[in-house]
Amino acid sequence: MTEQGGRPSDPLDRSLLPDTADVDEHGRLHLGGCDVLELAEEFGTPLFVYDEAHLRSRGAAAVDVFGPDGAVYATKAFLCRAMARLAHEEGMRLDVATGGELSVVLAAGVPADRVVLHGNNKSSEELALALTAGVGRIVVDSTDELDRIEALVAAGGRRPQVLIRVNPGIEVHTHEHVQTGVLDSKFGFPLTTGQAEAALARAAASAAVDLVGVHLHIGSQVFSVDNFADGLRAVAPFVRDADLPEFVVGGGLGVAYVAGEQAPDLRSWGESVLATCREEGIRSAISAEPGRAIVASAAITLYTVGTVKFIPGVRTYVAVDGGMSDNPRPVLYGSGYETFLPRAASSRRDLPIRLVGKHCESGDLLVREGAVPADLSVGDVVATPVTGAYGHSMGSNYNKVLRPPVVFVRDGRAREVVRRETVDDLLATDLG
Ligand SMILES: Cc1ncc(COP(=O)(O)O)c(C=O)c1O
Repeated sequence: MTEQGGRPSDPLDRSLLPDTADVDEHGRLHLGGCDVLELAEEFGTPLFVYDEAHLRSRGAAAVDVFGPDGAVYATKAFLCRAMARLAHEEGMRLDVATGGELSVVLAAGVPADRVVLHGNNKSSEELALALTAGVGRIVVDSTDELDRIEALVAAGGRRPQVLIRVNPGIEVHTHEHVQTGVLDSKFGFPLTTGQAEAALARAAASAAVDLVGVHLHIGSQVFSVDNFADGLRAVAPFVRDADLPEFVVGGGLGVAYVAGEQAPDLRSWGESVLATCREEGIRSAISAEPGRAIVASAAITLYTVGTVKFIPGVRTYVAVDGGMSDNPRPVLYGSGYETFLPRAASSRRDLPIRLVGKHCESGDLLVREGAVPADLSVGDVVATPVTGAYGHSMGSNYNKVLRPPVVFVRDGRAREVVRRETVDDLLATDLG
């Protein structure tokens, strides 16, 4: 067994690939009816390839469970205008956490009243933008933020509908950097200290805001429905007492990144969340904000192998033309991924490798324990699946590496929705 589950030589587990993945008689991978190697030729590498049907089906599933007002796509997981439009077309509302995300969503043509603004430190400018645009909801995270909203409304700004974000003070099984519901956290008003109650009372008494609900988010990449149920039970008495029209349970549903990992699907997670809310006597309308569960397994990233370095008795390093700038998750959280060759997508992977990038850091790794067919060579296109969430969106220009393009594939057609950066882009903000 590898540290990730599955035997190292097994072919890639097909369940890690997007819904429309198909392997032809030559072993080549097709997504959305497009030959993946032809996409690499046409658009170059590194390249994010998203299966549009997969994205749409996850969005539709969320709407099915939570209803059109209850399903909110967390845009931080992956955002460009095409994605914002797609989520909107599938009937979801959109959650944004900054003025930047809000601007992209508005530029995509999403009506502002379908947008929810989050953020633990919203500036007056971001709040003013939200009020002017008329965003549907603002999730208030601090008393300083309430001060700022009150000042903006006193100066003539539109009175917003707000929710109060509560910190339930519970731990969940995930990486500490993506835990958000522990007492020692920058997010929300703590329940156990009485600050949540005080915030609710203040918002209820404020003429500047229309208090409509309570908001909760316990963390991200959480696999256990019991963890979500614990979080809901912790806040249920508070939510019942508040007796407001809305209750948001946040996002956080985990996905499988490597063979052997098991995650609940959106539908069963949603049904379990709704059942717990009902059992706890919560009568408010329930919303959820999945991000990762909508987009993560919809995409793969393609890279070209530039060097293969075998260090006897140690390992084989395979270096590609991207790295921590297009997927920082392995470096940030120690996250595991799989590797495979799209030209031999069903083949045994007998060569254990470490997939690394081109950045000037020893820590620049994409896949710590990968495996590929033994005939891998320089020039091969190698792929990592389940890279649709928090890869492109958390990417950087470290080492002035150009950010990769994003392609949506569907019914045999590829649509470039984000182009590759150019050196002109790199220099655009540099005043010399
Ligand atoms: C308030 C809030 N809602 C939703 C999400 C989306 O989480 P995920 O992508 O894990 O579903 C996050 C992520 O951090 C969040 O902070």
